[in-house]
Amino acid sequence: MTQDRAAVLAEIAAQVRACKACRLWEGTTNGVPGAGDPNAEIMFIGEGPGFNEDKKGLPFVGRSGNYLEKMLKLINLNRNQVFIANVVKHRPPDNRDPLPDEMAACKPYLDRQIEVIDPLVIVTLGRFSMARYFPNGKITQIHGKPKYEDGRAYYPLFHPAAVLRNPTLEPQMEADFKKILDVIAEVKTQRGASAKPDKPDTNNNKNEPPPGPPKQLSLF
Ligand code: URA
Repeated sequence: MTQDRAAVLAEIAAQVRACKACRLWEGTTNGVPGAGDPNAEIMFIGEGPGFNEDKKGLPFVGRSGNYLEKMLKLINLNRNQVFIANVVKHRPPDNRDPLPDEMAACKPYLDRQIEVIDPLVIVTLGRFSMARYFPNGKITQIHGKPKYEDGRAYYPLFHPAAVLRNPTLEPQMEADFKKILDVIAEVKTQRGASAKPDKPDTNNNKNEPPPGPPKQLSLF
């Protein structure tokens, strides 16, 4: 099953790398589909690739990535044991904010990754991924407060870059991060005894190859 999930994620990644559905691919070196364990219990969703991510084709490999890895270590995890993705998968020029049509163009890829991985908790990093699940949320008010819905938790955290810019947020970020394990435990209780580690197939279609490229691929 893990093999199938990996194969579907690889297929999505190939589609992302070839994607020209919005303007963001222009001037980039690599698409950054996301990376990590296809069977992950935790999925992190950031904003979009920066300079280093674009060069390497991998998410969170610059300063923010180092900080994320430091936080993961606090809960005895490393980046290969989680899945890390972004709202947009090509680097916005000069690291500007992603535009609504760019996020819309990338949405089918992220939706499909979430469907395939079926994580117990989605940790949002920054306001753009937070807005997917907390449309009117203010990070200063809702960070570290999980929302449990349909057998999954949505857990908003500060973006690592925000913590690096404002180190007074560090203690709060660490405390929020350490709570992730409790959040997972709560979801497992809610999903019942049959929850992961084997993640039994609750969706018979989940591990089949994608039915076809996301809709926007037909644009080119
Ligand atoms: N910031 C993000 O939001 N994503 C990355 O991949 C890197 C930095």
